Amino acid sequence: MTRLRLGVNIDHVATVRNARGEGYPDPVRAAEMALAAGADGITAHLREDRRHISDADIDQLAAICRRRGRPLNFECAVTPEMEAIALAHRPHAACLVPERREEVTTEGGLDVARGHNAITPVVRRLVAAGIRVSAFIDPDEAQVAAAKAVGAQVIELHTGAYCEAVREKKPQAEALLAKLKAAAAQGAELGLEVHAGHGIDYETVKPVAAIPEVMELNIGHFLIGEAIFIGLGPAIQRMRALMDEARAQATA
Ligand code: PXP
Repeated sequence: MTRLRLGVNIDHVATVRNARGEGYPDPVRAAEMALAAGADGITAHLREDRRHISDADIDQLAAICRRRGRPLNFECAVTPEMEAIALAHRPHAACLVPERREEVTTEGGLDVARGHNAITPVVRRLVAAGIRVSAFIDPDEAQVAAAKAVGAQVIELHTGAYCEAVREKKPQAEALLAKLKAAAAQGAELGLEVHAGHGIDYETVKPVAAIPEVMELNIGHFLIGEAIFIGLGPAIQRMRALMDEARAQATA
């Protein structure tokens, strides 16, 4: 099985910074530390309301990722403003996410099936600019097929419902994991690269990492929380070790 990549989402370093309107903690410093600790790339979501990551953060993150030859995964809504920012920076990847101002976090996947007509030309322009386009979708057969139809090269499967079910010890956790596995297999069959993310912690990372078609995990909130107690580097190293363990066990 191929090595699973880890993208570290540093949005919530900016959340803490913005809570006091100070210049610290600096998400760019967190990105440097994450890369030094073994992250394969950096993920950042520039929200329409700029509640965490700012435009200046994206400028700097794009610059350090370019300097270090590491991928920046730019998460953004499908809007003309975000498309223009993506085209200006040409990050390694753009992950298209749904966005509602009232939500605390990205609550569900992008409805690619319903948004087909609006999403297709945006995907075409981003791909033409050399950006790898990923669609953040729920693990649902119609959404996987729609992601392929709009021309996305990658799907990122929303693991939030599964992770929440595990944390809350809900009986549907196993069924939600089965949906992730089925969507990953379908995506790979269609020639899409499969990623996964949202809500992953030390407990849920192993079952997700064991899904053979998954090539990359994007993890943020839990790691930033854990960093308060053990530091960002050790939190990332522990996550990385659990990912590698899960992969090794899955192939044994
Ligand atoms: N992937 C996507 C597309 C996301 O929107 C987020 C949250 O910004 C993540 C991964 C990371 O989720 P979490 O912060 O819960 O680990």
